[in-house]
Amino acid sequence: MTKKVKKCLFPAAGYGTRFLPATKAIPKEMLPILTKPLLEYGVSEAVEADINLMAIVTGRGKRAIEDHFDTSYELEHQIQGTSKEELLGDLRELRSKCTFSYTRQIEMKGLGHAILTGEVLIGNAPFAVVLADDLCDNGDDEGVLSQMVKLYDEHQCSIVAVEEVPKEETQKYGVIAGEFIKDDLIRVNDMVEKPSPDEAPSNLAIIGRYILTPDIFDIIRETKPGRGGEIQITDALLEQAKQGRVLAYKFKGKRFDCGSVDGFVEATNYFYEKTK
Ligand code: UTP
Repeated sequence: MTKKVKKCLFPAAGYGTRFLPATKAIPKEMLPILTKPLLEYGVSEAVEADINLMAIVTGRGKRAIEDHFDTSYELEHQIQGTSKEELLGDLRELRSKCTFSYTRQIEMKGLGHAILTGEVLIGNAPFAVVLADDLCDNGDDEGVLSQMVKLYDEHQCSIVAVEEVPKEETQKYGVIAGEFIKDDLIRVNDMVEKPSPDEAPSNLAIIGRYILTPDIFDIIRETKPGRGGEIQITDALLEQAKQGRVLAYKFKGKRFDCGSVDGFVEATNYFYEKTK
């Protein structure tokens, strides 16, 4: 029987050093684009993909994340019946459509390690991964995660979302190579974490959306620290790719790197224009 993607993992334990001092006491994932924190956009995208369990990997100093998706009785009582109540409408609706579970990454040993930390919340089923600092938007059309879940239903293997980046930027990303099986779909046979432009096998960069099959957990357990001394999900995925079990998908939509100041400002301007 084929399994459906019903859970989404949000690794959110990183220090967000590029946003210091803002991220000294506030998690990067809670920085707002207009009035919504980054993480709320990610949860909306997952709900739109018909995923109803949000598994969040947090760390020290990240309690604001749990509070955000909880009820705030005092505040909600205070604004009840006023015009301000509708400002919480979207969040309340979101909360009614999904449940949240949390675990903590005790040591920040990299994205691969954060994903392994989430195993306890995911179990033995395929799952989505959203890095909330990559903010995706596809207007009124299908969101990126929803596009990927459909592809998973068809192919039943791990899928990474990729985007063409300028060659000089490859060292910010995991970069893939492989064979195109459709205009927007590649069977991956190589992937390198943060290669220099000379080492990069292509200019197709992995962005923060993945669908992973659960055997990835055993692979990560065996994965040695790689680039930057961190346990890299790219290195673990390469093991699946060697068996032809990873697809890269050129998604439809826009992506903003909100982990960088430039991308954050660009996203703010884009979403602000949309409100007019
Ligand atoms: P980044 O490297 O973009 O995030 O990791 P960071 O380390 O928080 O940011 P900077 O570079 O210091 O500014 C990508 C994602 O992986 C998570 C981060 O929270 C982010 O969502 N992550 C990374 C973890 O959860 N744990 C880790 O050990 C590393």
